[in-house]
Amino acid sequence: MDIARTPSTPDGNPHLADAPPEPREPPVIRREDYQPFGWLVPTTHLAFDLEPEQTTVTATLQVERNPAATPSPILRLNGDGLKPLGVEVDGEPVNSWAMEGDDLMVTLPAERHQVRVVTRLNPAENSQLMGLYASGGMLCTQCEAEGFRRITFFPDRPDVLSTYTVRLTGDKHAFPVLLSNGNKVAEGALADGRHFAEWHDPWPKPSYLFALVAGDLVARRDRFVTRAGRQVELAIWVADEDLSRTQHAMDSVKQAMRWDEDVFGREYDLDAFNIVAVGDFNMGAMENKGLNIFNTKYVLADVDTATDGDFDGVQGVIAHEYFHNWSGNRVTCRDWFQLSLKEGFTVLRDQLFSEDMHSAAVKRIEDVRVLRSIQFPEDSGPLAHPIRPDSFREISNFYTATIYNKGAEVIRMMRTMAGTARFRVATDLYFARHDGEAATCEDFIRAVEDGAGLDLSQFRLWYGQAGTPVVTASTRGENGELVLSLRQTTPPTPGQPDKRPMPIPLKVAVHDRASRTLGEERLILLDEAEQEVRLPFTGSTPALSINRGFTAPVSLRRDVSLDELLFLATCDDDPFSRSEALQELAVRHLVHRPDAAGRDALGEAFRATLADESIDDMLRGELLMLPGMSYLMEQVERGDPGELHARREGLKAWLGDRLGDEMRDHYARAAAVPFALSAAAKGARKVKSAILSYLAAADPKAAALIAAEQSAAADNMTDRQGALMVLAGLDLPERAEQLAAFFERYRSNPLVIDKWFAIQAMSAHPLVIDQVRELERHPDFTLRNPNRVRSLFMAFTGTPQGFHAPSGEGYRMIADLILRLDPINPQTAARFVAPLGRWRRLEAGRAALMREQLQRLADAPRLSRDTYEQVSRSLG
Ligand code: TRP
Ligand code: ZN
Repeated sequence: MDIARTPSTPDGNPHLADAPPEPREPPVIRREDYQPFGWLVPTTHLAFDLEPEQTTVTATLQVERNPAATPSPILRLNGDGLKPLGVEVDGEPVNSWAMEGDDLMVTLPAERHQVRVVTRLNPAENSQLMGLYASGGMLCTQCEAEGFRRITFFPDRPDVLSTYTVRLTGDKHAFPVLLSNGNKVAEGALADGRHFAEWHDPWPKPSYLFALVAGDLVARRDRFVTRAGRQVELAIWVADEDLSRTQHAMDSVKQAMRWDEDVFGREYDLDAFNIVAVGDFNMGAMENKGLNIFNTKYVLADVDTATDGDFDGVQGVIAHEYFHNWSGNRVTCRDWFQLSLKEGFTVLRDQLFSEDMHSAAVKRIEDVRVLRSIQFPEDSGPLAHPIRPDSFREISNFYTATIYNKGAEVIRMMRTMAGTARFRVATDLYFARHDGEAATCEDFIRAVEDGAGLDLSQFRLWYGQAGTPVVTASTRGENGELVLSLRQTTPPTPGQPDKRPMPIPLKVAVHDRASRTLGEERLILLDEAEQEVRLPFTGSTPALSINRGFTAPVSLRRDVSLDELLFLATCDDDPFSRSEALQELAVRHLVHRPDAAGRDALGEAFRATLADESIDDMLRGELLMLPGMSYLMEQVERGDPGELHARREGLKAWLGDRLGDEMRDHYARAAAVPFALSAAAKGARKVKSAILSYLAAADPKAAALIAAEQSAAADNMTDRQGALMVLAGLDLPERAEQLAAFFERYRSNPLVIDKWFAIQAMSAHPLVIDQVRELERHPDFTLRNPNRVRSLFMAFTGTPQGFHAPSGEGYRMIADLILRLDPINPQTAARFVAPLGRWRRLEAGRAALMREQLQRLADAPRLSRDTYEQVSRSLG
């Protein structure tokens, strides 16, 4: 497929002068083409003269030939939309340079040189939010993956490590705070109301970890003493009005620092650790060395404005970025194909941290729900890729649930096979071997083999094969044993028609229903296409508990009776397996066999879950959640989301009706629990909102009353948002009243106004399309803020009656959005292509309408590299 693009033709480019002017598509970068860079850059000095509309950057690089690379006198410095204002070599202006595309090529005769380049930037006009940009009056940077080349010419690749010294100069009143990586080594006043600060980071790092911040900020300060006795000055920098919402983030930093010492033996390595909250940010947060930059959404939290989920999100992301200091910064990636080396491992580390801070079982159930609702669809669609991809056009498109969440699952499997203690030996070995290096996934695997004593030769397939393996299990009894027959197949994915069997670790137990005896848990390994495993079992009514704790990221198909599922849902000793059996009961009824027997079994399981006094409310709330639409759609060949949604709502109404008394009792009990951030009180709130959604399906008017009461009595955002979400889906007068009141109360808080947009955009209201159109014209809506765009439009892509409206209007709205957003912020625009790529899984009418919109995007002139890549893959 051919998409017209205009090539960039920067001035003064002798190499491009004769190039044909016709449009071309962005080149494919391949993993197998990796070559070490020709030059080393031992030190980098950066001087910034900061002005919102005209910042001057002087970069001074010491370079020397890399003995490990093919010798060449040409130094390629990557740039993106930059012009060199001056090039000096060894202190003298030179002409021995040329532009090749966006890159600056400097010819260097000797072994080592000093190269200086001056560039000029306009941060105020940088709407992509990559490189140096302005946000809410401050200046800040985002360099991962390739944003540094928008600041200065540099070998902008993660295997070139350099020691940075940074001098920042700016207006004292506009930018009283000047921050960069490492430690502050000098500061002082200058003429004309200006001042400067100089920062030195002693740890060599790749350019993607560079950061600076200049702004009028205040700090919450604290201190942490490492196990080795290092005193670390902690500071969280925010706008003045947000200071009161930073205590939870600070607590989280200290918990993360202690936990990484205790569990992974990793200590912090600088005297200062700074975190800055920024309102305009493309992703969640960024692990720049010693200066993490965060989306405000993952820093700010207080009881009045943040839900329980938001509190956990802050804690998890703070930990994630902090953990990168070792898994990412001290040991970084050789190239971007190795992204999962740092992201998969760091997600695993933050998941384990959160498991330790809260209920491990509930955290695991939540993580698996995220994996299945986001990563499984990715793995079965046109954007499927292995956790270590072989090629890309734009690396920003590969910050995916596959690299992050499946990457974490793959490393978790190694941990399961090794056991916790031997896995720790392996990670110690990995960090010791590769400290200060740019490593590969292969290096990690080898450290696990050597440290934990495993043979991972076949396991390496998990890094190269995309797609979610399907495991089929059946059982038969045979004198005192249960014979478990297992089969595995991995479906074809783009570019990978045939798959080989992979090692799949499965924790299993065989219970006996009649005697209610729980079997012992054991770990089995399925590593062939077909395999039989014999498990000791002397009973007569087996219930097979399999993939307990979700030891492997696979789809399980098993022929199982309702009685067996009901037993597992109510009696299994593994909470994950209980939740699994409940999900299976629901999928079976909603997708495969919508009969009364299946519905009754689910009703029984729900009744038992409500009555079970052996579980806490946090788990109860979790167990009461039906599988989401995205996971349900994965279970059908080609589905009608409208019909499936109606069935799901029908089941909710039936459950709300059938168990109404029990549910209202629980609701009343939970509503009497006073507010606290304890697990018990959070659990009570979770049970309340789960129950409210069933009551709303069964009896909207009655539920609206309860919701309005909950909202009136609320002393926290969880209750307030929970109530408003129920009301937003109902066509009742309370809806508008409550939405207006919420808006008035929080109009000055952008993060809460994001919720206000999202609650409406994701509602089950029949007129959601019109509401989103109207919200798009709201004075507080803007395409320039990614949080705001996501809160309106990402939320909308989840609505069966809106996004999937049979007219195709929802698809057109998202395509319109992509076309308008792409020139402003391509990275964020490209994220909206994936929902349009699901056409193969939809019934023919919707599939055609969706494809039509993808084709319309493909035909548009001047698409960004980001959006071009996602559109062409999605049509493919
Ligand atoms: N490395 C960051 C993280 O996972 C991700 C990130 C933040 C990012 N900002 C980005 C990735 C911009 C690409 C572009 O913690
Ligand atoms: Zn990360």
